[in-house]
Amino acid sequence: MKYKKTQVIIVGSGPAGLLLSQLLHNEGISSIIVDRQSRERIEGRVRAGVLEWGSVQALEEAKIGERMHREGLPHEGFDLAFDGEFHRIDVGGLTGKKVMVYGQTELTMDLIAQRLEQGCEIVFSAGDVQPTDVTSNTPKIQYTKDGETVEIEGDYITGCDGFHGVCRQTIPSTVLKTYEKVYPFGWLGVLVEKPPVSDELIYANHQRGFALCSMRSKTRSRYYIQCPLTDNVEDWSDQRFWDELSLRVGPDVARNLETGDSFEKSIAPLRSFVAEPMRYGNMFLAGDAAHIVPPTGAKGLNLAIADIRVLSRGLIEHYKKSNNHYLERYSDICLKRVWKVERFSWFMSTMLHQFPEFSAFEKRMQRAEFDHIQGSETASSSIAENYVGLPLEM
Ligand code: FAD
Ligand code: DHB
Repeated sequence: MKYKKTQVIIVGSGPAGLLLSQLLHNEGISSIIVDRQSRERIEGRVRAGVLEWGSVQALEEAKIGERMHREGLPHEGFDLAFDGEFHRIDVGGLTGKKVMVYGQTELTMDLIAQRLEQGCEIVFSAGDVQPTDVTSNTPKIQYTKDGETVEIEGDYITGCDGFHGVCRQTIPSTVLKTYEKVYPFGWLGVLVEKPPVSDELIYANHQRGFALCSMRSKTRSRYYIQCPLTDNVEDWSDQRFWDELSLRVGPDVARNLETGDSFEKSIAPLRSFVAEPMRYGNMFLAGDAAHIVPPTGAKGLNLAIADIRVLSRGLIEHYKKSNNHYLERYSDICLKRVWKVERFSWFMSTMLHQFPEFSAFEKRMQRAEFDHIQGSETASSSIAENYVGLPLEM
C-alpha cells in the first residue's frame, strides 16, 4: 500500500471539486483530487451552459475567469414561450444583473489546466474509491491505481463526486435524510456548429413537449427537447430532431434555425433531490453529491459553485484563523438556499413540460401560470431574480 497526506481530500474532479481545490490553493492550503473517470471523459462531458453573475464573480475571485470573460456571452434576458406565444423576461431591466453563457465543459477544462499547471495532484481513473474513518480526526480515502492500493490521509474529505458518487453513500441512513422527485421524461440535447437561432435563450412549452434553444458561442448552438425516458439517442436522427424542434418552437423561430450534423447527442433524466445534512463527521458534501435540480432553471452548476463558496470560506477560516464558525454552519447555510433553488427549478420544470399524468385542469394551471407571468411585472421579476441567482447569505 502507498500512503499520501494532504490537508483536504477532494473526491470528484467536476466543477465543485476543481473550484474548491483552486480556492484553497490560492490561500496556501493543500488538496489532492481523486476522480474515477479519465481526464478525457471529464473534459468531454457536455452539460450546463449558464452561469449566474454570483458564479461569475466567484470564478473571477478564484482567478480562473480570464477565458470566460473573453469568450463567454453576457445575456440580459431570455424568452418563455407557450404554444407559440412569447414573453421576454427582461433580466437586466428587472434586476440590474445579467448571466453569462459559458459552457461547463470549457470551465472544467480551464480549471483542470490551471490546477495541473500549479502543481496540484489530480488522480484520474482511480478505482474503488472509498472514504474511511470520516468521523475521526484523520479521515482517509483508499483507491486503486495501476494495480496498487493507495491511501490518502487528510484533515477533511469533501465529497464533490456527483449524484452517483460514493461519499454520500457512506453516511448512515440513520443520519441522512433524502428527498426526491423523479420526472417522467428526459432531455435530448444536441450540439451543432451553427449560429444560434436567437440571440437569447428560448424556453418553450408546446403541446408536443418542452424545447430549449441555447448556445455555447456565436457559432455553436445547443438545443434540447423533452423526450420519453424510454427513448435512445439512436431513435433520434438529426433530421428527426430538427423537425421536432421546429414544431415546438413554432414557425417564426424555426424559419431562422440553421440545422446541420450534430456532434454531440445525449439524453439526461430529470430529477429533484436533496440530502440532509451536507456534513457527516469531517466529510462535507458539495454540488450534485448533495442535491440535484432538473435543468430547466439552469441551476445545478450554480448551486455547486455556491456550496463551494461557503465551504472554501469555512476551510480557509479554519486554517487561517482557527475559526470553525462557517464549517459548523456549512450545511445549514447551504441548505437554506438549496431549497429555494429547488423550488425555482421545480416550478420552471412544472410550468414548461408536458406531463403524461396531468389532467385537463393541471394543463390549464400551466397556461394560467404563463398568462400570469406575461401580465405581471412582479411575477416576471420573481423569475428574473431567481434566474440571475439568489443572494448567498453567509
Ligand atoms: P459533477 O460535475 O457530476 O462532478 C462529479 C465528479 O465526481 C465527476 O467527475 C465524476 O467522475 C466523479 N465521481 C463520481 N463518482 C466518483 C467516485 N466514486 N470516486 C471518485 N470520483 C467520482 N447546471 C447549471 O447550473 N446550468 C445549466 O445550464 C445546466 N444545464 C445542464 C444540462 C444538462 C443536460 C445536465 C445533465 C446538467 C445540467 N446542469 C446545469 C447541471 C450541472 O451540470 C451539474 O449540477 C454540475 O455538473 C455539478 O457539478 P459537480 O462538480 O457537483 O458534479
Ligand atoms: C443550458 C442548459 C440548461 O439547463 C438551461 O436551463 C439553459 C441552458 C445549456 O446547456 O445551454
